[in-house]
Amino acid sequence: MRRHRPVMLNEVIDMLQIKERATIVDGTVGHGGHAAEMLRKAGPHGRLIAFDWDESMIARASELLDNIPGSKNFVHADYRRIPEILDGIGIDKVDAVLLDFGVNLEHFDDVERGFSFQGDAPLDMRMDRSAKETAAAWLGRATEKEIVRVLREYGGERHAGLIAREIVRRRKEGKMRRTSDLVAAVESAVPPRLREKRIHPATRTFQAIRIQVNRELDELQSAIEGIAMRLSGGGRMVTLSYHSGEDAAAKNAFRELAKSGKFQVLTKTPLRPSEGEIDENPSSRSAKLRAIERIHIQENHS
Ligand SMILES: C[S@@+](CC[C@H](N)C(=O)[O-])C[C@H]1O[C@@H](n2cnc3c(N)ncnc32)[C@H](O)[C@@H]1O
Repeated sequence: MRRHRPVMLNEVIDMLQIKERATIVDGTVGHGGHAAEMLRKAGPHGRLIAFDWDESMIARASELLDNIPGSKNFVHADYRRIPEILDGIGIDKVDAVLLDFGVNLEHFDDVERGFSFQGDAPLDMRMDRSAKETAAAWLGRATEKEIVRVLREYGGERHAGLIAREIVRRRKEGKMRRTSDLVAAVESAVPPRLREKRIHPATRTFQAIRIQVNRELDELQSAIEGIAMRLSGGGRMVTLSYHSGEDAAAKNAFRELAKSGKFQVLTKTPLRPSEGEIDENPSSRSAKLRAIERIHIQENHS
């Protein structure tokens, strides 16, 4: 299995300005690369609350983070539940939050999970394996119109209509259960000239269906706003997005928060990875980093 390389690590750490004894939330801990560095900055009296909705990631992260001093809580949950979970463990305010959206390379490497169009496996695609609906189940019940919308909106797929029609035709024959069934449907639907392109013609379809199955963009903007409200004065939050939908949610959330006068957006335009990083880690290429700070309001005791 490839170890996921933390994207824009230096930029994330510079931006978060974590101080000794800080309380940190990593909403998407993955393999724990960012979390390890954040925890080091907070020192032995720091505290990390790490979330991931994929239990196998929590196991990987705790392996790495166990050796780093500081207090740690690992929570198997959707980061959209951060405020409620902080309430449950009696934490009001936190000093730094990171949301590094999307998937881990390990998700693609583990063919059995159905995220990859390479290899053949059941069409699962659930990030949280305790969730009910798999990709096969969704593709089995969605209308053609819904499939078109998802492929367009979440995948930016130009041939959404052709692909959705082919999916619906094949599922009637019971041929929409495995990743190879979905690849075959896309390949036969798209114009032949696209079949030899460098980017596999099923890339966008797989991405779109994954986002739908996991409801990755649902209520994302309001969740980001709710999480930022838990920052202490001077506390900072960083988002790393790889998809235009995630980036728009972060951008709009930060803009709304700034309107309240209690927050300051630190990134007028998102930061991007350096060319060196993209060369070393091509999967960082689409990353966009945004950051916000909760303004420290001086108490007036006079
Ligand atoms: C890009 S990886 C994070 C990598 C991590 N920063 C590191 O350094 O290893 C994204 C992680 O977020 C998790 N994730 C995605 N959406 C989530 C959500 N809504 N709630 C909780 N975890 C989520 C995924 O399971 C994945 O492990």
